[in-house]
Amino acid sequence: MTLREITEKFERAGIENAKNDASLIICHFFGISSAALMADRNKDFSSPELDAAVARRCNREPLQYIIGVWPFMNEEYLVSPHCLIPRSDTELLCEAVINSLPQNGRFIDLCTGSGCIGISALASRNDATAVAIDLFMDTLEAAKQNAERNGVSDRINFIQADVLDNPPDVLKEKFDIIVSNPPYIRTAVLDDLEPELAFEPTAALDGGDDGLIFYRKIIELWSALLSYNGKILFEIGYDQGEEINGIADKNGFDCKVFCDAGGNPRVAELIRKAE
Ligand SMILES: C[S@@+](CC[C@H](N)C(=O)[O-])C[C@H]1O[C@@H](n2cnc3c(N)ncnc32)[C@H](O)[C@@H]1O
Repeated sequence: MTLREITEKFERAGIENAKNDASLIICHFFGISSAALMADRNKDFSSPELDAAVARRCNREPLQYIIGVWPFMNEEYLVSPHCLIPRSDTELLCEAVINSLPQNGRFIDLCTGSGCIGISALASRNDATAVAIDLFMDTLEAAKQNAERNGVSDRINFIQADVLDNPPDVLKEKFDIIVSNPPYIRTAVLDDLEPELAFEPTAALDGGDDGLIFYRKIIELWSALLSYNGKILFEIGYDQGEEINGIADKNGFDCKVFCDAGGNPRVAELIRKAE
């Protein structure tokens, strides 16, 4: 199949960035650069592996699961159906961690998934250390592999815990930052999302009836782990800023919301109100 033929198949399957995905799949399976592909764009790239990959993508499986690795910040992450695929939208939250950490700072990444936020923050801040939490062992195993792959495994501890419950007793120390990109989609709209999301773990997406259960529980139960001048940093949905502000206020926190490059609210920063 040529680049054009794969692109047309993807277009017929309703894939938005059909040419981009076709190009990435060919480059991955034939180990060539996009420049080399463009120089030879009419070449027939057929192989059984490529054909199988194209069929999976036409079935709307995310490209990232087919390729198996995906970039986030300056690192590369193994992705599997145990983890949410790292999104470039989340880089703003990771940058906020990197810029907010004090010297030799310590942070906790709740709902760590692939580990992308914590691991990329540590990769940029080699003075920092972290704890990462997720509910699922399979997810934590994937995050551990990513920490090793990106050379930070000696500065991060992975703990299995339920963020909707009190922090486990092993966590006795305080943290400069609590960071989380929790599940934040309202349960009722989960079935209306693009087909690719059906391949990602529902537990990584479902934020309960109003999409806010994780924010409430993290603020109510986990903020006890914050140091005196500590900050909570959340990724939020584009329409959740006011509600997060309300939850923060009720629990004694001031809240600032920062927008992403597209102008959508994306990161909430919570700091304890002055007494
Ligand atoms: C939206 S994903 C975020 C993953 C990653 N931090 C990122 O930004 O790509 C949410 C993560 O929360 C985890 N999770 C879901 N329910 C949880 C719970 N009750 N306690 C701890 N982690 C939970 C899921 O397994 C998933 O890895």
